[in-house]
Amino acid sequence: MQPLFKVVWSSVGKKFIMALSGLAMVVFLVEHVVGNLLLYSTDPDPYNKYGHFLVSLGSVLIVVEYIFVAILLFHAYSGITIALGSNKARPIGYYKVGNASGDASRKTFSSKTMIWTGILTFVFIVIHLKTFKFGAYYASHVGGEEIRDLHTLVWEVFRSPAYVLFYVITIFLLGFHLRHGFWSAFQSLGVNHPRYSPFIYCLGILIAIAVAAGFIGIPVWIYFTGA
Ligand code: HEM
Repeated sequence: MQPLFKVVWSSVGKKFIMALSGLAMVVFLVEHVVGNLLLYSTDPDPYNKYGHFLVSLGSVLIVVEYIFVAILLFHAYSGITIALGSNKARPIGYYKVGNASGDASRKTFSSKTMIWTGILTFVFIVIHLKTFKFGAYYASHVGGEEIRDLHTLVWEVFRSPAYVLFYVITIFLLGFHLRHGFWSAFQSLGVNHPRYSPFIYCLGILIAIAVAAGFIGIPVWIYFTGA
């Protein structure tokens, strides 16, 4: 085996890349929730223009999407193999348990359920892409140009109580995955200092709450206000 490949595929290498890939996905989620806040408007144009802007990035977007798929698959694969304890030669757990002040280890609901909330998020993403990215095509016209009307699609989907419930429950649990994952990523990267750790811990909680609340609010808002 090539030395670099060996390092990447070792449990330490996997944890390191898992941390980086996890943080990259946090960045995506923050951008995604901010963009989707436009769905709170009943005017479809701002959201459709935002979607169109992303599509108009063309090959840049396609490259980013391929990178994202690779990141997601690697993250999921590493998470599962580490959780199953397949790295027996160097049995380092998925995370280093410890609280923000570096006190004795303390397991939380988030840390104990990472594998399950991770698998659920993966299944969610597959269903989510099928529903929206590869879902029904509605056309909208802005400034004489035809663009995809994603606003109508999203508002239509969230008329279904089953979809709304699925989104609310899954994203609520994703919040726990995010909270622990954010903290754990910095631990895996070796950023562990009494001065910064409490800040990182609190930032993880804040990001998880903001992202989950921002996403959860959308289906709930559309369900209760959409005609
Ligand atoms: C209320 C919550 C959400 C709404 C309304 C929403 C909406 C959308 C829409 C409309 C698209 C299609 C964009 C396009 O085809 O141009 C999309 C893509 C996507 N969403 Fe979401 N999303 C939500 C939550 C999430 C969550 C929680 C995740 C991840 C856990 C996620 C991950 C993705 C991914 C990976 C894509 C594909 C992006 C791309 O191909 O460029 N979304 N979302």
